[in-house]
Amino acid sequence: MTDFSKTKALMARGSAFLGSEHAILCGAMSWVSERNLVSAISNGGGFGVIACGAMTPELLDTEIAATKAMTDKPFGVNLITMHPDLMELIAVCTKHEVTHIVLAGGIPPKGSVAAIKSSGAKVIVFAPTLALAKKLLRSGADALVIEGMEAGGHIGPVSTSVLAQEFLPSLAEDHLVFVAGGIGRGEAMASYLEMGAVGVQLGTRFACATESIAHPDFKKAFFRANARDAIASVQVDPRLPVIPVRALKNKGTEEFTQKQREVAAVLDAEDIAMSEAQLQIEHYWAGALRRAVIDGDVENGSLMAGQSVGMVKTEEPAADIIAALMAQSEAALSERQ
Ligand SMILES: Cc1cc2nc3c(=O)[nH]c(=O)nc-3n(C[C@H](O)[C@H](O)[C@H](O)COP(=O)(O)O)c2cc1C
Repeated sequence: MTDFSKTKALMARGSAFLGSEHAILCGAMSWVSERNLVSAISNGGGFGVIACGAMTPELLDTEIAATKAMTDKPFGVNLITMHPDLMELIAVCTKHEVTHIVLAGGIPPKGSVAAIKSSGAKVIVFAPTLALAKKLLRSGADALVIEGMEAGGHIGPVSTSVLAQEFLPSLAEDHLVFVAGGIGRGEAMASYLEMGAVGVQLGTRFACATESIAHPDFKKAFFRANARDAIASVQVDPRLPVIPVRALKNKGTEEFTQKQREVAAVLDAEDIAMSEAQLQIEHYWAGALRRAVIDGDVENGSLMAGQSVGMVKTEEPAADIIAALMAQSEAALSERQ
Protein backbone atom coordinates (compact mmCIF):
# COMPACT_ATOMS: atom_id res chain seq x y z
CA MET A 1 0.00 0.00 0.00
CA THR A 2 2.93 2.32 0.60
CA ASP A 3 3.48 2.72 -3.12
CA PHE A 4 0.17 4.64 -3.32
CA SER A 5 -0.47 2.93 -6.66
CA LYS A 6 -4.26 3.39 -6.75
CA THR A 7 -4.10 7.07 -5.86
CA LYS A 8 -1.20 7.65 -8.23
CA ALA A 9 -3.10 5.99 -11.07
CA LEU A 10 -6.05 8.34 -10.57
CA MET A 11 -3.65 11.30 -10.39
CA ALA A 12 -1.57 10.25 -13.39
CA ARG A 13 -2.79 12.97 -15.78
CA GLY A 14 -2.49 15.64 -13.08
CA SER A 15 1.03 14.64 -12.02
CA ALA A 16 2.19 14.48 -15.64
CA PHE A 17 0.78 17.96 -16.23
CA LEU A 18 2.39 19.45 -13.11
CA GLY A 19 5.62 17.49 -13.34
CA SER A 20 5.33 16.60 -9.67
CA GLU A 21 5.32 13.24 -7.92
CA HIS A 22 1.76 13.70 -6.66
CA ALA A 23 -1.01 15.92 -8.06
CA ILE A 24 -1.43 17.83 -4.82
CA LEU A 25 -1.13 21.59 -5.19
CA CYS A 26 -0.59 23.85 -2.25
CA GLY A 27 -2.80 26.78 -3.23
CA ALA A 28 -1.11 30.16 -3.16
CA MET A 29 -1.61 31.94 0.16
CA SER A 30 -0.54 35.58 0.28
CA TRP A 31 2.40 36.11 2.70
CA VAL A 32 2.46 32.37 3.54
CA SER A 33 3.29 30.85 0.15
CA GLU A 34 6.82 32.17 -0.24
CA ARG A 35 10.15 30.45 -0.91
CA ASN A 36 10.19 28.29 2.27
CA LEU A 37 6.75 26.70 2.04
CA VAL A 38 6.73 26.53 -1.77
CA SER A 39 10.07 24.70 -1.95
CA ALA A 40 9.09 22.39 0.94
CA ILE A 41 5.88 21.40 -0.84
CA SER A 42 7.64 20.73 -4.15
CA ASN A 43 10.51 18.89 -2.46
CA GLY A 44 7.91 16.86 -0.52
CA GLY A 45 6.29 15.49 -3.68
CA GLY A 46 3.54 18.09 -4.10
CA PHE A 47 3.36 21.23 -6.22
CA GLY A 48 4.09 24.56 -4.50
CA VAL A 49 2.75 27.85 -5.83
CA ILE A 50 4.23 31.27 -4.98
CA ALA A 51 1.56 33.84 -4.05
CA CYS A 52 2.54 36.99 -5.90
CA GLY A 53 -0.32 38.99 -4.33
CA ALA A 54 0.53 42.67 -4.43
CA MET A 55 4.29 42.09 -4.95
CA THR A 56 6.11 44.36 -7.42
CA PRO A 57 7.82 42.73 -10.42
CA GLU A 58 11.18 43.24 -8.63
CA LEU A 59 10.00 41.42 -5.50
CA LEU A 60 8.55 38.56 -7.54
CA ASP A 61 11.85 38.31 -9.42
CA THR A 62 13.70 37.89 -6.09
CA GLU A 63 11.15 35.39 -4.73
CA ILE A 64 11.29 33.14 -7.78
CA ALA A 65 15.10 33.17 -7.80
CA ALA A 66 15.17 32.33 -4.07
CA THR A 67 12.67 29.49 -4.51
CA LYS A 68 14.68 28.04 -7.40
CA ALA A 69 17.71 28.01 -5.12
CA MET A 70 15.78 25.85 -2.63
CA THR A 71 14.26 23.29 -5.01
CA ASP A 72 14.99 21.79 -8.38
CA LYS A 73 11.39 20.53 -8.60
CA PRO A 74 8.69 22.38 -10.57
CA PHE A 75 6.58 25.01 -8.86
CA GLY A 76 4.07 27.61 -10.02
CA VAL A 77 3.36 31.31 -9.56
CA ASN A 78 -0.10 32.67 -8.74
CA LEU A 79 -0.83 36.09 -10.25
CA ILE A 80 -3.86 38.21 -9.39
CA THR A 81 -5.59 39.33 -12.60
CA MET A 82 -6.35 42.83 -11.27
CA HIS A 83 -2.67 43.56 -10.49
CA PRO A 84 -1.80 46.75 -12.40
CA ASP A 85 1.56 45.29 -13.54
CA LEU A 86 0.19 41.89 -14.61
CA MET A 87 2.00 41.85 -17.97
CA GLU A 88 5.33 42.77 -16.32
CA LEU A 89 4.82 40.01 -13.76
CA ILE A 90 4.24 37.55 -16.59
CA ALA A 91 7.50 38.77 -18.17
CA VAL A 92 9.34 38.09 -14.88
CA CYS A 93 7.94 34.53 -14.85
CA THR A 94 9.01 34.09 -18.48
CA LYS A 95 12.54 35.26 -17.65
CA HIS A 96 12.76 32.57 -14.96
CA GLU A 97 11.14 29.94 -17.18
CA VAL A 98 8.38 29.34 -14.62
CA THR A 99 6.51 26.29 -15.91
CA HIS A 100 3.00 26.98 -14.54
CA ILE A 101 1.13 30.22 -13.92
CA VAL A 102 -2.13 30.31 -11.98
CA LEU A 103 -4.38 33.28 -12.79
CA ALA A 104 -6.63 34.15 -9.85
CA GLY A 105 -9.06 36.84 -8.78
CA GLY A 106 -11.12 37.27 -11.92
CA ILE A 107 -11.41 36.70 -15.64
CA PRO A 108 -7.93 36.90 -17.22
CA PRO A 109 -7.56 40.23 -19.06
CA LYS A 110 -7.13 40.24 -22.83
CA GLY A 111 -3.70 39.09 -23.96
CA SER A 112 -2.61 37.63 -20.61
CA VAL A 113 -3.29 33.97 -21.45
CA ALA A 114 -1.65 34.35 -24.88
CA ALA A 115 1.41 36.04 -23.32
CA ILE A 116 1.86 33.16 -20.86
CA LYS A 117 1.37 30.50 -23.50
CA SER A 118 3.85 32.09 -25.88
CA SER A 119 6.46 31.76 -23.12
CA GLY A 120 5.81 28.00 -23.09
CA ALA A 121 4.30 28.01 -19.60
CA LYS A 122 1.01 26.29 -18.74
CA VAL A 123 -1.96 28.37 -17.61
CA ILE A 124 -4.19 27.29 -14.72
CA VAL A 125 -7.40 29.24 -14.12
CA PHE A 126 -10.29 29.32 -11.65
CA ALA A 127 -13.83 29.18 -12.99
CA PRO A 128 -16.94 29.95 -10.95
CA THR A 129 -19.43 28.58 -13.50
CA LEU A 130 -19.42 25.76 -16.02
CA ALA A 131 -20.08 28.14 -18.92
CA LEU A 132 -17.09 30.29 -17.99
CA ALA A 133 -14.95 27.21 -17.49
CA LYS A 134 -15.70 26.05 -21.04
CA LYS A 135 -14.97 29.53 -22.41
CA LEU A 136 -11.62 29.75 -20.60
CA LEU A 137 -10.60 26.27 -21.76
CA ARG A 138 -11.52 27.21 -25.34
CA SER A 139 -9.43 30.34 -25.12
CA GLY A 140 -6.29 28.47 -24.14
CA ALA A 141 -6.34 27.65 -20.42
CA ASP A 142 -4.58 24.32 -19.85
CA ALA A 143 -6.20 23.34 -16.56
CA LEU A 144 -8.93 24.40 -14.19
CA VAL A 145 -9.30 24.68 -10.44
CA ILE A 146 -12.82 24.52 -9.05
CA GLU A 147 -12.94 25.89 -5.53
CA GLY A 148 -15.85 25.59 -3.14
CA MET A 149 -16.95 27.98 -0.43
CA GLU A 150 -15.45 25.80 2.33
CA ALA A 151 -12.04 27.22 1.34
CA GLY A 152 -9.99 29.82 3.16
CA GLY A 153 -9.54 33.29 1.68
CA HIS A 154 -11.74 34.75 -1.09
CA ILE A 155 -14.65 32.45 -1.84
CA GLY A 156 -17.61 31.93 -4.14
CA PRO A 157 -21.11 30.98 -3.02
CA VAL A 158 -21.18 27.25 -3.95
CA SER A 159 -19.85 24.27 -1.99
CA THR A 160 -17.07 22.01 -3.29
CA SER A 161 -19.32 18.94 -3.39
CA VAL A 162 -21.85 20.70 -5.65
CA LEU A 163 -19.18 22.21 -7.92
CA ALA A 164 -17.60 18.78 -8.31
CA GLN A 165 -20.92 17.24 -9.35
CA GLU A 166 -21.61 20.08 -11.74
CA PHE A 167 -18.21 20.36 -13.44
CA LEU A 168 -16.58 16.95 -13.37
CA PRO A 169 -19.09 14.87 -15.38
CA SER A 170 -18.88 17.20 -18.37
CA LEU A 171 -15.24 18.30 -18.20
CA ALA A 172 -13.18 15.57 -16.56
CA GLU A 173 -12.76 13.33 -19.58
CA ASP A 174 -11.26 15.91 -21.91
CA HIS A 175 -9.81 18.44 -19.48
CA LEU A 176 -7.62 18.69 -16.41
CA VAL A 177 -9.66 19.67 -13.37
CA PHE A 178 -8.28 20.12 -9.85
CA VAL A 179 -10.67 20.32 -6.89
CA ALA A 180 -10.14 22.73 -3.98
CA GLY A 181 -11.98 23.80 -0.85
CA GLY A 182 -12.47 21.96 2.41
CA ILE A 183 -10.10 19.08 1.76
CA GLY A 184 -8.36 18.11 4.98
CA ARG A 185 -7.87 14.36 4.59
CA GLY A 186 -6.99 11.87 1.90
CA GLU A 187 -10.36 10.12 1.94
CA ALA A 188 -11.99 13.27 0.55
CA MET A 189 -9.18 13.61 -1.97
CA ALA A 190 -9.81 10.04 -3.14
CA SER A 191 -13.50 10.66 -3.68
CA TYR A 192 -12.88 13.68 -5.94
CA LEU A 193 -10.27 11.70 -7.88
CA GLU A 194 -12.82 8.92 -8.37
CA MET A 195 -15.25 11.49 -9.74
CA GLY A 196 -12.71 12.44 -12.39
CA ALA A 197 -10.55 15.16 -10.85
CA VAL A 198 -6.88 14.78 -11.79
CA GLY A 199 -5.68 16.30 -8.54
CA VAL A 200 -6.51 18.54 -5.62
CA GLN A 201 -5.51 21.90 -4.19
CA LEU A 202 -5.26 22.53 -0.46
CA GLY A 203 -4.41 25.72 1.41
CA THR A 204 -5.56 25.61 5.03
CA ARG A 205 -4.05 22.17 5.68
CA PHE A 206 -0.59 23.44 4.61
CA ALA A 207 -0.65 26.92 6.20
CA CYS A 208 0.86 25.71 9.47
CA ALA A 209 3.44 23.33 8.04
CA THR A 210 6.78 23.43 9.86
CA GLU A 211 8.33 25.24 6.90
CA SER A 212 5.58 27.89 6.77
CA ILE A 213 6.89 31.26 7.97
CA ALA A 214 3.48 32.16 9.45
CA HIS A 215 3.86 33.66 12.93
CA PRO A 216 3.64 31.14 15.83
CA ASP A 217 0.53 32.95 17.13
CA PHE A 218 -1.14 32.61 13.71
CA LYS A 219 -0.43 28.88 13.83
CA LYS A 220 -1.71 28.59 17.41
CA ALA A 221 -4.99 30.23 16.37
CA PHE A 222 -5.34 27.56 13.66
CA PHE A 223 -4.60 24.70 16.08
CA ARG A 224 -7.26 25.96 18.51
CA ALA A 225 -9.96 26.58 15.89
CA ASN A 226 -12.90 24.39 14.90
CA ALA A 227 -14.58 24.25 11.49
CA ARG A 228 -17.37 26.55 12.66
CA ASP A 229 -14.90 29.30 13.61
CA ALA A 230 -13.93 29.83 9.96
CA ILE A 231 -16.71 32.14 8.84
CA ALA A 232 -17.42 34.07 5.65
CA SER A 233 -17.40 37.86 5.81
CA VAL A 234 -20.74 39.58 5.41
CA GLN A 235 -21.57 42.18 2.83
CA VAL A 236 -23.05 45.22 4.59
CA ASP A 237 -23.97 47.30 1.56
CA PRO A 238 -25.60 45.69 -1.50
CA ARG A 239 -24.12 48.38 -3.76
CA LEU A 240 -20.57 47.43 -2.81
CA PRO A 241 -20.08 43.94 -4.24
CA VAL A 242 -17.32 42.69 -1.96
CA ILE A 243 -16.10 39.16 -2.54
CA PRO A 244 -16.63 37.23 0.71
CA VAL A 245 -13.53 36.09 2.58
CA ARG A 246 -13.47 33.07 4.90
CA ALA A 247 -11.39 33.65 8.04
CA LEU A 248 -11.36 32.83 11.74
CA LYS A 249 -13.68 35.15 13.62
CA ASN A 250 -11.87 37.86 15.61
CA LYS A 251 -11.92 41.64 16.16
CA GLY A 252 -10.63 42.10 12.60
CA THR A 253 -13.84 40.51 11.27
CA GLU A 254 -15.84 43.37 12.83
CA GLU A 255 -13.35 45.94 11.60
CA PHE A 256 -13.97 44.74 8.06
CA THR A 257 -17.66 45.48 8.47
CA GLN A 258 -16.68 49.00 9.55
CA LYS A 259 -14.26 49.33 6.61
CA GLN A 260 -17.06 48.45 4.20
CA ARG A 261 -19.28 51.16 5.70
CA GLU A 262 -16.44 53.69 5.26
CA VAL A 263 -15.84 52.74 1.63
CA ALA A 264 -19.59 52.71 0.91
CA ALA A 265 -19.87 56.25 2.32
CA VAL A 266 -17.08 57.50 0.04
CA LEU A 267 -18.80 55.72 -2.83
CA ASP A 268 -22.07 57.46 -1.92
CA ALA A 269 -20.33 60.81 -1.96
CA GLU A 270 -19.16 59.81 -5.47
CA ASP A 271 -15.59 60.59 -4.53
CA ILE A 272 -14.37 57.29 -6.01
CA ALA A 273 -15.39 54.87 -8.75
CA MET A 274 -16.64 51.34 -8.00
CA SER A 275 -13.42 49.72 -9.25
CA GLU A 276 -11.39 51.95 -6.92
CA ALA A 277 -13.73 51.04 -4.04
CA GLN A 278 -13.15 47.36 -4.70
CA LEU A 279 -9.39 47.86 -4.93
CA GLN A 280 -9.47 49.61 -1.53
CA ILE A 281 -11.23 46.58 -0.06
CA GLU A 282 -8.59 44.25 -1.55
CA HIS A 283 -5.76 46.40 -0.16
CA TYR A 284 -7.47 46.21 3.21
CA TRP A 285 -7.39 42.39 3.08
CA ALA A 286 -3.75 42.24 1.99
CA GLY A 287 -2.76 44.48 4.92
CA ALA A 288 -4.94 42.62 7.42
CA LEU A 289 -3.58 39.23 6.35
CA ARG A 290 0.00 40.51 6.65
CA ARG A 291 -0.71 41.70 10.20
CA ALA A 292 -1.82 38.21 11.23
CA VAL A 293 0.64 36.07 9.23
CA ILE A 294 3.80 38.14 9.63
CA ASP A 295 3.25 40.27 12.76
CA GLY A 296 1.21 37.66 14.66
CA ASP A 297 -1.60 40.14 15.44
CA VAL A 298 -4.32 37.51 15.69
CA GLU A 299 -6.82 39.95 17.18
CA ASN A 300 -6.89 42.65 14.54
CA GLY A 301 -5.33 40.92 11.56
CA SER A 302 -7.10 38.56 9.16
CA LEU A 303 -6.80 34.86 9.99
CA MET A 304 -7.88 33.58 6.58
CA ALA A 305 -8.75 29.89 7.01
CA GLY A 306 -11.01 27.30 5.46
CA GLN A 307 -13.43 25.01 7.26
CA SER A 308 -10.82 22.24 7.26
CA VAL A 309 -8.97 24.28 9.93
CA GLY A 310 -10.46 21.95 12.55
CA MET A 311 -8.26 19.18 11.13
CA VAL A 312 -5.07 21.23 11.59
CA LYS A 313 -3.84 20.34 15.06
CA THR A 314 -0.07 20.61 15.05
CA GLU A 315 2.97 21.74 13.08
CA GLU A 316 4.10 19.02 10.66
CA PRO A 317 6.65 19.05 7.84
CA ALA A 318 4.99 19.60 4.43
CA ALA A 319 6.32 16.24 3.20
CA ASP A 320 4.61 14.45 6.13
CA ILE A 321 1.27 16.15 5.39
CA ILE A 322 1.52 15.06 1.75
CA ALA A 323 2.47 11.51 2.75
CA ALA A 324 -0.46 11.34 5.20
CA LEU A 325 -2.92 12.54 2.53
CA MET A 326 -1.61 9.92 0.10
CA ALA A 327 -1.80 7.15 2.72
CA GLN A 328 -5.37 8.06 3.73
CA SER A 329 -6.45 8.17 0.09
CA GLU A 330 -4.77 4.86 -0.67
CA ALA A 331 -6.37 3.16 2.34
CA ALA A 332 -9.81 4.43 1.32
CA LEU A 333 -9.40 3.27 -2.28
CA SER A 334 -8.04 -0.12 -1.21
CA GLU A 335 -11.01 -0.78 1.03
CA ARG A 336 -13.41 -0.31 -1.86
CA GLN A 337 -12.36 -3.43 -3.74
C1 LIG B 1 -4.32 32.21 4.55
C2 LIG B 1 -4.83 32.02 3.13
C3 LIG B 1 -4.44 32.93 2.15
C4 LIG B 1 -4.85 32.73 0.82
N1 LIG B 1 -4.42 33.61 -0.15
C5 LIG B 1 -4.72 33.37 -1.46
C6 LIG B 1 -4.17 34.19 -2.50
O1 LIG B 1 -3.43 35.13 -2.23
N2 LIG B 1 -4.50 33.91 -3.79
C7 LIG B 1 -5.31 32.84 -4.11
O2 LIG B 1 -5.56 32.62 -5.31
N3 LIG B 1 -5.83 32.04 -3.15
C8 LIG B 1 -5.55 32.27 -1.85
N4 LIG B 1 -6.02 31.42 -0.87
C9 LIG B 1 -6.78 30.20 -1.28
C10 LIG B 1 -5.82 28.99 -1.42
O3 LIG B 1 -4.92 29.17 -2.48
C11 LIG B 1 -6.56 27.67 -1.66
O4 LIG B 1 -7.20 27.67 -2.90
C12 LIG B 1 -7.59 27.36 -0.59
O5 LIG B 1 -7.00 27.56 0.67
C13 LIG B 1 -8.08 25.93 -0.74
O6 LIG B 1 -9.09 25.62 0.17
P1 LIG B 1 -8.81 25.09 1.68
O7 LIG B 1 -8.38 26.30 2.44
O8 LIG B 1 -10.13 24.60 2.10
O9 LIG B 1 -7.76 24.04 1.59
C14 LIG B 1 -5.67 31.62 0.47
C15 LIG B 1 -6.06 30.73 1.49
C16 LIG B 1 -5.66 30.90 2.80
C17 LIG B 1 -6.07 29.90 3.86
